[in-house]
Amino acid sequence: MCGIVGYIGDKQAAPILLQGLAKLEYRGYDSAGITVREGEKPAEVVKTIGKLHNLIEKTDEGRALVGTCGIGHTRWATHGAPSKTNAHPHVSGNCTNSGSGAVESEVVGVHNGIIENYQELKAKMERHGYKFYSETDTEVLIKLVDYYFKKYKMGPIDALAKTIVRVRGSYALVVMFADYPDRIFVARKDSPMIIGVNDGESFIASDVPAILSHTRNVYYIGNLEMAEISAGNVDFYNLDGDRIEKEETHIEWDAKAAEKGGYEHFMMKEIHEQPQVVLDTLHKYIKEEGAAKTIDLSEVGLTDEDITKFSNVYIVACGSAWHVGMEAQYVLEELGDFQVRVELASEFRYRKNRLPADSLVIIISQSGETADSLAALRMAKDKGITTLAIVNVVGSSIAREADYCMYTLGGPEISVATTKAYSCQLVCMFMLALKFAVVRGCMEDYGNYLDELLSIPEKMNKVLEDKERIQWFASKYSNARDIFFIGRGIDYAICLEGSLKMKEISYIHSEAYAAGEMKHGTISLIEDGTLVIGTLTQSDLYEKTLSNMMECKSRGAYLMGITSYGKYDVEDSVNFPVYVPKVDEHFIGSLAIIPLQLLGYYLSVSRGLDVDKPRNLAKSVTVE
Ligand code: M6R
Repeated sequence: MCGIVGYIGDKQAAPILLQGLAKLEYRGYDSAGITVREGEKPAEVVKTIGKLHNLIEKTDEGRALVGTCGIGHTRWATHGAPSKTNAHPHVSGNCTNSGSGAVESEVVGVHNGIIENYQELKAKMERHGYKFYSETDTEVLIKLVDYYFKKYKMGPIDALAKTIVRVRGSYALVVMFADYPDRIFVARKDSPMIIGVNDGESFIASDVPAILSHTRNVYYIGNLEMAEISAGNVDFYNLDGDRIEKEETHIEWDAKAAEKGGYEHFMMKEIHEQPQVVLDTLHKYIKEEGAAKTIDLSEVGLTDEDITKFSNVYIVACGSAWHVGMEAQYVLEELGDFQVRVELASEFRYRKNRLPADSLVIIISQSGETADSLAALRMAKDKGITTLAIVNVVGSSIAREADYCMYTLGGPEISVATTKAYSCQLVCMFMLALKFAVVRGCMEDYGNYLDELLSIPEKMNKVLEDKERIQWFASKYSNARDIFFIGRGIDYAICLEGSLKMKEISYIHSEAYAAGEMKHGTISLIEDGTLVIGTLTQSDLYEKTLSNMMECKSRGAYLMGITSYGKYDVEDSVNFPVYVPKVDEHFIGSLAIIPLQLLGYYLSVSRGLDVDKPRNLAKSVTVE
């Protein structure tokens, strides 16, 4: 939530900052702001309400601001409504102009995260004569930095150190001091921030895509650490103010991966990237030697000996990543003979449960920064439980803190609604299920299962060839009020994801129900013309779910049914059948989800909505 960028070098900062913010707008788009300074001159602050294009226009694409050092921010509001006054950057001085214009203050800065004790700190600062113009926790933070800077007169790093021991919460904080014109300073705890350095220039960002076109060499700043950044150089410090060494990481992602590449929306591009990124992810872990194929987790660091020690698996995640867990549990239980529990990270982190010592906690996260998932990971680690992360963003907090990390090769995912990262997570879970089953001696047909897994990307392409049919269907339902998704077992898990895709981008109310539960209450909502989408991919449950769909149909529902080619003939029962290619039923979710992603997408487009940046949402939820 919230995107931060910073630049210091020999070029004009504003256009670079705006380009970086454009790549981070998926993190928040309530308002945006920028500050740039040239040498000793006061920094200029410009803020606008709404999406980034307003700021781009107001600054004449950055040309209106002169200076080679600056920072920018795109906001997802937490404290204080979206407004120009609450937009970042914030300044330490007592200003009356909503913090915009030339900054006469010592400190100007931006922040991503939440300061939990901001009210107590605000009262303290007011006692010291500070006046506040915004409702944000960030303004408190900036004023606190100013207070310690002036009180101790020991320099920016010490002022930051004093500040961060005083605040509770999470922050990626970026500040400029009037007295240090050729420097930017940062501090971080539990909110993402990377620093890239390249031949005389330095870049700061919340996420990799913002700086990919400038450099792929980045540093990750740790929790409760600070950095002093000048043109082409960065020095890191711990809380004691001592210098610390960091290793540079090279990012493999291609800059083009973060562009729309001719598609109207990132979401459509990312839906189409699924066959390739799923193939890449499978090939990362499935090794072929002659005709023999095996799953090799040596890069993850998980040995067969480790695997035999686990008797329970907890899968913990949020949103779509939780849906991956919901689907994978059936596969892990059936193939690997494990006890599996799937938990929402926001619930799991506060449960007072006793986790058995021989458990494995699997955290699934695209961003690797989701606050609840990170807290759940830390809670499990504190209890001495082994943790394995499935993460897309290299070097993210969850990836670094888990005992083991299995990376997905999804590349940058920009659309708020996840598609390709979800699909990569799912095949990682399938690979884990197979590997665990083999190691535990409960798998006979390993080779066949691997062949089935490897056939998924090609079959995904086939599903995508049929997208016009879904587009046509979506055009009929653009005024739908409610949509119900029903299925059993793996099909239920597919429904959960299909329903979330629908509601988050089309704003149509939708619910996913275990088909057998409809009669326990929800069926009362079915009226003439209500769309009910059933997934019917599991042989042993097909007839049961179809009966539940027919019960809805006899109460007026219009039925869409998803199944696989040649397996069942649903034409006579449902109004709109959708077929996907056949694959082993454990893995069919990888194919059956695609028509549902497309349906959500086309409905959103037909309703004229902002597909990639749905209201009230942000890509990476780094606050509770
Ligand atoms: O980055 P993460 O995978 O941890 O994010 C988890 C959820 O916030 C995410 O899956 C969210 O539900 C998506 N917007 C769904 O499309």
